[in-house]
Amino acid sequence: MKTIYAVIVGYGDRGRVYGQYALLHPETFQIVAVVDPLDMNRNKAKETFDLPEERCYRSVEELIRAGKIADCALNCTMDELHVSTTLPLLDAGYDVLLEKPVTSDPKQLFLLKERAEKNHCRLMICHVLRYAPFYQGIKRVLAEGKIGTVIAMEMSEHVGIQHVITAYIRGKWRSNARSGSSMLLAKSCHDLDLMCWLVGDSAPRAVVSFGKRTVFIPENAPKGSGNICTLDCPVEKDCMYSAKKMYLEHDTMGFLTWAGMDTYFEDVTEEQKEQHLRESDFGKCVYKLDGDLYDHQTVAVEFENGVTASMSLISNATYPGRRIHIIGTKGEISGFLENSIYTVRIFGADEMSYREEQFDVSEEIDSGHMGGDLRLVEDFVKTESGMPCSVSTTSIQDSINGHLCVYAADRSAQEQRVVYIKEYND
Ligand SMILES: NC(=O)c1ccc[n+]([C@@H]2O[C@H](COP(=O)([O-])OP(=O)(O)OC[C@H]3O[C@@H](n4cnc5c(N)ncnc54)[C@H](O)[C@@H]3O)[C@@H](O)[C@H]2O)c1
Repeated sequence: MKTIYAVIVGYGDRGRVYGQYALLHPETFQIVAVVDPLDMNRNKAKETFDLPEERCYRSVEELIRAGKIADCALNCTMDELHVSTTLPLLDAGYDVLLEKPVTSDPKQLFLLKERAEKNHCRLMICHVLRYAPFYQGIKRVLAEGKIGTVIAMEMSEHVGIQHVITAYIRGKWRSNARSGSSMLLAKSCHDLDLMCWLVGDSAPRAVVSFGKRTVFIPENAPKGSGNICTLDCPVEKDCMYSAKKMYLEHDTMGFLTWAGMDTYFEDVTEEQKEQHLRESDFGKCVYKLDGDLYDHQTVAVEFENGVTASMSLISNATYPGRRIHIIGTKGEISGFLENSIYTVRIFGADEMSYREEQFDVSEEIDSGHMGGDLRLVEDFVKTESGMPCSVSTTSIQDSINGHLCVYAADRSAQEQRVVYIKEYND
């Protein structure tokens, strides 16, 4: 396999995750440049990949002025920057591995697809869960026809309370108006992508959805509560969402909580943490922030071939995780991603009974997103080297249906009606 040279655009959390692959496999993948306007993150990449100063850029435009210096780019910028940073990369001839969600705007989604095709560039989307051995195994069972033809599918994700509060109530995804992403788009574009991928050859036809924000709203704030947990809240000690408890005492999701400070998140001092909780949104009362995301939403999709499928995204869970249950004409598959076990049941193998086989893929989990993170980069690198695409490969062409289901679901919940996918294709 030849060596593939890449630029990381946006060296934040995800940039660091994907960059690890280059450190582990320098013979096939090397990071030769970074683009990031933030000095701290640019310098971190410079140090990590031993980059010369002239290969550390502040903007994509600066990178492009230097000529084409790599085979591809890993675009790990935040949601609202995906389109504006990817278009110039494609125009400059870079293949791009782009973080999800692609965009919240259907027109921009189609524009990116067209631009990738026009420039003959690969544009692959980071649907890491397709690469988790759990979902790869389920896809294999379906392809082998073991459960016959798929009739229906149920999926759910229960998002843990600490994750929800840190990322979606206090964190950078807390508002659709700010980040450009609804909770369904940010969190479940993975699941709706998986749904379309697992259904296979048929496209989604119609979507209906209901959603609401019920928990973290001002009306539910404890009586007499203040605005900032560590400064002015008389009931802080009795509140289980106290920023003091979550971030000072338990250091919940430090890579999110302490990001965006002048110091690298792993190096922040206790004093800096306390100051951050006094001054940033991470210290604010969870009930009084300006978030606009639903905290529970259910989506039902009908596919052209008659398959019906549902996905429920439910926040504030005590026992988080993703569940799936697929029913086919000869049997079914069910499983819980977080314990890495799925079960296949074939009806009628014995008279009026079924045969059951359990698959445990826990030993294959060797990176984040239940093994999906680095398998995704490996697949991208292999495809860049000219090797055949894998069953999980997520080109922009292939990612469109899942994203359209998300747009349609959000529109359906808002307008209280069935939304037809053809509304986006006309
Ligand atoms: N695939 C997944 O499962 C998964 C998981 C988490 C996050 N994400 C997505 O990954 C993306 C990145 O998230 P993150 O948590 O790493 O964000 P982050 O804020 O940690 O990193 C973004 C980086 O981009 C840099 N940046 C800002 N403007 C830029 C520009 N114009 N050009 C280049 N760089 C720029 C920032 O300085 C920062 O270093 C988001 O879209 C997020 O939704 C995907």
